[in-house]
Amino acid sequence: MKKLTGPFRQIITMDHLERKGPITDSMINIIENGGVIVENGTIREVDDFEKLHRKYKVPVEEITGPSVLTPGFVDAHTHICYAGTRANDYAQKIQGITYQEILAMGGGIYSTVEKTRQSDFDTLKNETFNRVDRHFNSGITTMEIKSGYGLSLPDEIKMLDVINSINETSTPDLVSTCLAAHVKPMEFNDNETYLDFIRSDILPLIRERDLSRRVDIFIEENAFQPKESQKFLVKAQALGFEITVHADQFSRGGALVAATVGATSADHLESSQDKDIRALVNNNVTAVVLPGASLGLAMDFAPARKILDAGACLAIASDWNPGSAPMGDLLLQSALLSNFEKLTFAETMAGITFRAASVLGMDDRGILRQGKLADMISFPTDDHREILYNQGMLKPDMIWKNGNLFTKKSQ
Ligand code: NIG
Ligand code: FE
Repeated sequence: MKKLTGPFRQIITMDHLERKGPITDSMINIIENGGVIVENGTIREVDDFEKLHRKYKVPVEEITGPSVLTPGFVDAHTHICYAGTRANDYAQKIQGITYQEILAMGGGIYSTVEKTRQSDFDTLKNETFNRVDRHFNSGITTMEIKSGYGLSLPDEIKMLDVINSINETSTPDLVSTCLAAHVKPMEFNDNETYLDFIRSDILPLIRERDLSRRVDIFIEENAFQPKESQKFLVKAQALGFEITVHADQFSRGGALVAATVGATSADHLESSQDKDIRALVNNNVTAVVLPGASLGLAMDFAPARKILDAGACLAIASDWNPGSAPMGDLLLQSALLSNFEKLTFAETMAGITFRAASVLGMDDRGILRQGKLADMISFPTDDHREILYNQGMLKPDMIWKNGNLFTKKSQ
C-alpha cells in the first residue's frame, strides 16, 4: 500500500548531514510544500508535493493548515520503568540537601528500588506504559528504557520483561538496557561481589532470553569506581553486550572508562573536561547529554558546545527518571540546552533524531529519506524555527509510526 502524505509547508529531512561535529543551519535540507510517499511503513520518496502527486497515482493523506514535518524523535536514555514517586526527595532538594546526600542516607535510588521490587508485573507494566504513551504523544517514536531499580535477579528480569512486553504491543519502538550496575544493593557487602554476581547470574540469563543487548553502569563516587567498572564492562563485552556508561555526572572517571572499553556512548558528562572529551572523540564514543538531569538537580549543563566543537557525535536524551530528571520533556529540555549552550537548530535536531538513533544502533530512522522508516512528526507552524523558539511548548499535532498516523489532536 502506497500513499502520498502532504503538502507540508516545510519538510526538514535531516538528510546529508555529518554524523559528528558542528552543523550550521544553512546545511539543512528544507523542502517547501513537500510531500512524502510512504510504502509499507517506509519512505519511498520525499520531494515537492505537486511533483510527487503527478508522478504517483496513489491515495493522498491530505494535510491542511500550517505544518512542519521532521523525523520522529529518538530518546536514547530513559529510566521510565519504575514504581512510586520521589516527590519527597525533591522537597528535600529544594531545601538544599543534595542528590548525593540523599543517596548516601539510603534514600534516592534506593527508595525507588524498594517500590519497584514491591510492585507486581502488571502494576509496573501499567505505570511504565503510561509514561511510554505520554512520551510517544510528544513525538518520541523510539525510546530506550533501562532496568536498574530491581538490583536482584528476579527484579532486574521483571523490569526487562515489562519493557519487552510493552514493546510487543506499543506503537513506539522500545530498546531495553540492563542497568543492574546502578548502585550496590543493600544486601551485598561490596561492589566487586555484586558486579561478579551480575556477570555470573544476571547477564547470562539476559543473553539466553534475549531480554537486552545493552549494558550500562553508573560510574560515580557513591556508585561504582572506574577500575572495577572497567573490569566489569570488559566481561560484559565478552558476553556480547554493547556498552553504555553513566559518566562524569558529579565526578570524573567514567568518560575515560567509556573511551578505554570502546563504549557506544558516554552519557551525562556534566563534569567532563577537555581530556575526557578528547578521549571520547578519539575512540568514537557518542556523547549523550541529559539536560533534564541538570534541570532536575539545578546543576550546570554538560559542555555540549565544546563537545561538538571537539568533533564528537552529540545526542540529547531526557534521562526521564523519578529522581534526578522527573520532567521527561525531551523537546523542552533540548530547546533550553540549545539556548544555554548555543547549539544551532540543526545540531539540536540532529541530537534527537539520527544522531540519537545511531546510539541505539538504529540507522534505519531519524532521517526523512528513501528507505528509512516513516517515523515522522508534524508541528502546527509554517516556520521550523518556531519549534525551538517556543521552548518546548509547541508540540507535534500529528505523529506517524511506520507510516501510520496515530494521533491527531486539536491544540
Ligand atoms: O541518570 N545517575 C544515576 N542514575 C539516574 C538517576 C536515577 C535516579 O535517581 O533514580 C540518572 O540521573
Ligand atoms: Fe540516567
